[in-house]
Amino acid sequence: MADGSPKTMTLTLHVWRQKNARAAGAFQTYKATGVSPDQSFLEMLDLVNEDLIGRGQEPIAFDHDCREGICGMCSLMINGEPHGPERGTTTCQLHMRHFHDGDEIVIEPWRARAFPVVRDLVVDRGAFDRLIQAGGYVSVNAGGAPDANSVPIPKKEADLAMDAAACIGCGACVAACPNASAMLFTAAKVRHLNLLPQGAPERDLRVMKMVEQMDAEGFGACTNHLECEAACPKGISADFIGELNRDLATAILRSREASKNASAGG
Ligand code: SF4
Ligand code: FES
Repeated sequence: MADGSPKTMTLTLHVWRQKNARAAGAFQTYKATGVSPDQSFLEMLDLVNEDLIGRGQEPIAFDHDCREGICGMCSLMINGEPHGPERGTTTCQLHMRHFHDGDEIVIEPWRARAFPVVRDLVVDRGAFDRLIQAGGYVSVNAGGAPDANSVPIPKKEADLAMDAAACIGCGACVAACPNASAMLFTAAKVRHLNLLPQGAPERDLRVMKMVEQMDAEGFGACTNHLECEAACPKGISADFIGELNRDLATAILRSREASKNASAGG
């Protein structure tokens, strides 16, 4: 600005407010004034909350933790897009410079049967935890941290496993999918472990149990819309879904073969 004072914005926010999972929710409109383009989206919400608290009103509940794009807690639908308009960016890393003075912004929680609303913009993503409990681990005692390179892993597999491990469990893939499918999350977790020698012994059981749990939690099926890949802030590739399907088909065939052999032997 000509007078050198920092340029700020005034925004109109339409925010989903809901007391708890059983209560009916509705949008409420707030003005956010004095918003700096250098603030993050969550800092802008902090500002709104300070104002609400100052006026004796209930602050807006929203999830966050690291605010560095690594924990996966921040989970907001911003103008119909999970994590907002910037590709490869979590809500906490989204800066207000991507909006304009006078903008109207609609802010909602993730919408999926498997992620019930806890309050306002906070949803219960316990379904993801139960998916991990079903098979997203290595159960052998691997002892202490091994020396580097003591387990040789081909570079291609190591790179792919690292790409899959980048998933932060935010749930944007589920929120973006018209079927609320958790295939991208599940595929990332399965492939991360199945690609590595430490995860190989349990690969069949892992994929079968995780897919079974995914269905039990009420996530939908994948029908190749690829909205998950577009919304993922960590660039997880939908190719992993194809690999998951291959892993699953192989695991089912092997388990059928094993039961056939067991009954023939018995
Ligand atoms: S796959 Fe991407 S969008 Fe889905 S939970 Fe992982 S990081 Fe989030
Ligand atoms: S708050 Fe941790 S990723 Fe956004």
